[in-house]
Amino acid sequence: MSAVDVIRAKRDGHRLTDEQIDWVVDAYTRGAVADEQMSALAMAIFLNGMESAETARWTRAMVLSGDRLSLDVDRPTVDKHSTGGVGDKITLPLAPLVAACGAAVPQLSGRGLGHTGGTLDKLESIPGWRARLSLDEIMAQLSSVGAVVCAATEGLAPADRKLYALRDVTSTVEAVPLIASSIMSKKIAEGAEALVLDVKVGSGAFMKTLPQARELAAALVSIGVDHGLRISAMLTDMSVPLGVAVGNAVEVAESVDVLRGGGPADVVELTVALAREMLSLAGIDTDPAEVLASGKAYETWERMIRAQGGDPDAPLPVGGHKHVVTAPEDGVLATLDAYAVGVAAWRLGAGRARKEDPVQAGAGVLCLAKPGDRVEAGQPLLELRTDTPDAVPYALEALAGGYTVADSAVTPGPLVIDTIR
Ligand code: URA
Repeated sequence: MSAVDVIRAKRDGHRLTDEQIDWVVDAYTRGAVADEQMSALAMAIFLNGMESAETARWTRAMVLSGDRLSLDVDRPTVDKHSTGGVGDKITLPLAPLVAACGAAVPQLSGRGLGHTGGTLDKLESIPGWRARLSLDEIMAQLSSVGAVVCAATEGLAPADRKLYALRDVTSTVEAVPLIASSIMSKKIAEGAEALVLDVKVGSGAFMKTLPQARELAAALVSIGVDHGLRISAMLTDMSVPLGVAVGNAVEVAESVDVLRGGGPADVVELTVALAREMLSLAGIDTDPAEVLASGKAYETWERMIRAQGGDPDAPLPVGGHKHVVTAPEDGVLATLDAYAVGVAAWRLGAGRARKEDPVQAGAGVLCLAKPGDRVEAGQPLLELRTDTPDAVPYALEALAGGYTVADSAVTPGPLVIDTIR
């Protein structure tokens, strides 16, 4: 078989055969297909798409490129994956909550790239906390605590690691078959029995429109079903940042508030809704709202953080420089654009432009008013935090037009738009 034949077939709009897919993914992982050939193939897939059976086979080949974990624990295993958003700290309260309800939650997570934050970057703002665990440590913590949030091990879907880096620099990320196979190959390799997908839709998400998000959700669910997972996808709004905090340490602090029975209403709502769905797929009949209120989820959080070397009681870093954006006039905050806030937080140092860049633990944005809130001229709307004050003008530039004050605001739509099972 030759890479050129496979590229030509997809370039000319043909369906790739199982043999072609298995061969090209394996050969690319081994280095026998060059980056430039895989780039051309990714672009051909981007332009001509893949049928669902092709996407399923492509996913299977990526799973087989590495290890598939066998999670041998005495509780049902269930995971959650978010397609990424602004202020999306939900994994932090959710993993200990679902574990406190009786499931085992293996959450192998990534770092942030661009305007969406990464779960590991957020947790690394806790002094001492360690993202990299060995397989033995993951298994031990899953059994003892019930929840692990850590970096994916090197051996999981190595074909995806190589291909994702290539897609990032060849403008071939935003293709549904490639996104769906990338996400699902890692989740299938991780070995959980059940998975709930949080497919974000809106300006701060990958998928800007509901039809696009539905297409991605359907592709993800179909791959999961094919691989024997119990799976569902919730379509959730990402046109406005989730909660108040957008950044790293600020999002940890907000998650702790939620685990202690407080926190912003939207973060609590989504955490409980996702927990209900996860528990339902795991076959556990427990009310997560009651467990959250009981303080048991917070106890599990403390054990989860300590198990990975972190000190849950240590003060969190705070950006050394603050800048407050105020309301220009009296009225109602009509819009607060998730993408604009995400880019501002990123420019303040909360995110990275290249995957090797460091992030600032204390950088971020606090959204002190949310759409629908009445505001007075001069009232603080946004608090920007950073260790690099020179970044503030760039963050303000990102926020220009990102919020509006008007006489009235449109009533926001639901946070959970739909669930696809
Ligand atoms: N997240 C992934 O893991 N892969 C993609 O292709 C896009 C988002």
